[in-house]
Amino acid sequence: MRIENQALIGRLKELGVELRPAVPLKEKTSLEIGGTTDELLLHRYDTIPEVMRLLADAQVPHRFLGGGTNVLIPDGELPWVVLHLPAATPGVRVEGNSALVDASADLGGMVTFCAKHDLGGMEGLIGVPGSVGGALRMNAGAYGTQIGTWVREVELYRAESGEVETLRGDDIRFDYRHTSFGPDDVMLRVKLELPSQPYKEILAGIRVCNEKRRASQPLNQKSAGCIFKNPSGGSAGRMIDELKLKGHRVGDAMVSDRHANFFVNLAHATCDEMLRLIDDVRERVRAAYGVELENEVIFWRN
Ligand code: EPU
Repeated sequence: MRIENQALIGRLKELGVELRPAVPLKEKTSLEIGGTTDELLLHRYDTIPEVMRLLADAQVPHRFLGGGTNVLIPDGELPWVVLHLPAATPGVRVEGNSALVDASADLGGMVTFCAKHDLGGMEGLIGVPGSVGGALRMNAGAYGTQIGTWVREVELYRAESGEVETLRGDDIRFDYRHTSFGPDDVMLRVKLELPSQPYKEILAGIRVCNEKRRASQPLNQKSAGCIFKNPSGGSAGRMIDELKLKGHRVGDAMVSDRHANFFVNLAHATCDEMLRLIDDVRERVRAAYGVELENEVIFWRN
C-alpha cells in the first residue's frame, strides 16, 4: 500500500516518523517471505497515539512488525502499511535487579546484556530470535523459561483507549505462547525483575541451551521457528516426524529434515506454498492422531 495523502505525509514528517516507500517485507522476516508496502519508522514512542489517530482519520490500514521472526506475510502488494520501531542497541538499562528494556531491543542481546550485569533467569531464551516486544506479546519461551515469569511492568500503546498505558505484571496473563494483550496493542517498554547470579554461571547455562538448540533445530535455514503450538501433553514435532513428513515439500516450502515443527524456505518459497504445506501437515496430523494443531506462527490474513 502506498501513502499518497500529502497532508498525512507532512504531519508524519513533523512527528519525526520516517516513511520508507515500497519496502519488500521478505527482507524483514526470518522466513524471507512477504510482499511490498510502505513502512513507517517510529523513532519516538510518544508519537504513537498521534500517528495511530492520523492513520485512522486518513483510513490507512496498518500492521505492526516487530523482529519479523514469527510471522508469515502474504506476497504481492499488501493492503496495510507497516509500522516499526527502529532497533534500540542495547535498549537495556539495569537498576539493581531490574532491567528496563525497549520493546525494539533484540531478545538475545538483552539476555546477554543482563547476564553481564549478573542478572540471570533467561538463559533458555538466548537462541530465540526476535525483538523483546514480540517475545512479550507471544510470551516466548524455551528450555523451561518463559519471558512472562520476569515481567513486573509493561508500557504499551493500548488500541482500546488509544493511549500509552502502564500495566503491572500481575495484571497481565502469560500463558503458553499466549498473553492477555489485545491484538492491536503495541509493546513499548518492559521492566523485568531478575534473579542475581554470577555471570560465569549464567554463561554456562547459556552454552547448554545453545548446544541443545544447535543439535535439534535448523538454525542456518530460513524459518519462523516452530510452526505449530504443541498440543496439551503432546509434541507437534514428534507427531509430524512419526508421520515421516520431514523433507515433505510444497514448492520451496519444506518440513525441516532436522526438526519437524520447523518449516523452512529452501530458496524462493511463496506465502501460498507455505500455507499449503501448513494445511497439508495439519490435515495429516488430524487424520492420524485426531489432533487439530494450532498455528504458533502468526499469519497476516488479508
Ligand atoms: N521430536 C522428534 N522429532 C522432531 C522434533 C522433535 O521426535 O523432528 C521430539 C524430541 O525428540 C522431543 C520432543 O519431540 O522428545 C520435543 O522436541 P523439542 O525438545 O525439540 O521441543 P519442541 O516441543 O518441539 C519446544 C518449543 C520450541 C523451543 C523448544 C525448546 C513449541 C511449539 N516449541 O519445541 O520453541 O525452542 O521447545 O524448549 O513450544 C518456537 O516457539 O518457535 C520454538 C521453536
